[in-house]
Amino acid sequence: MPHTFERDLAHLIDHIDTYLASLSAPGVPAVRSGIATWRDGPVQRHDPKRLAINSHMAEALDFAAKSGQPALAEAIGVIEPQLKWISYDHYPRALIGEGFATGHSYAALIGREGCIPAEDFELGLFLIAPNVLYRDHKHAAPELYAPLTGPHGWRFSPGAPLEWRDAHQPVWNEAFQHHATRVGPVPFLCIFGWTRDVDEIATIIPCDDWPALEAPTVGPPGLADR
Ligand SMILES: [Fe+2]
Repeated sequence: MPHTFERDLAHLIDHIDTYLASLSAPGVPAVRSGIATWRDGPVQRHDPKRLAINSHMAEALDFAAKSGQPALAEAIGVIEPQLKWISYDHYPRALIGEGFATGHSYAALIGREGCIPAEDFELGLFLIAPNVLYRDHKHAAPELYAPLTGPHGWRFSPGAPLEWRDAHQPVWNEAFQHHATRVGPVPFLCIFGWTRDVDEIATIIPCDDWPALEAPTVGPPGLADR
């Protein structure tokens, strides 16, 4: 059967749903329920657009494939050039920092601006370049991150040390939970789900230790042995 955008999208959403079903984290049922609610809606195709940061996608997909998710990685790879990748531009540049501002992109699969329109739900793919800190922030939307790569450093309280987590360890952020992500040496690629309040703008939580967390030497324990 020939590929069509609709078929590629449905195939990817199937794989995402199967993948999410294999994870245990609070928030997984809410995201899967949003997928079930919206996935059969009409598909709107945007003009494809990739950002410079998308050059990291191949490495991220290679990692995801070799870490046990070859079918999901392939489904993402097929549709990635057909999607409209954008950056989240609601943060003041001086606060979010140049590294993240130019070092991330995301594409909504389901959502108001997504491939399948939805009200107050969003499912998509999110990519961040290696060694970038997504500085401490918070938002009203409860959020599931299902990272397909790793390890990456996380913290859920400004000033706290980073906890390094391997790929396929989901993170669930309740509404207004403080969080920051320090990407490790492998690009960060995740499936994200926002389960409500998706139009509420996220805000940065200024912290004075960002320079230390952004230092190139920061990384997971035992990095040299990997
Ligand atoms: Fe977030």
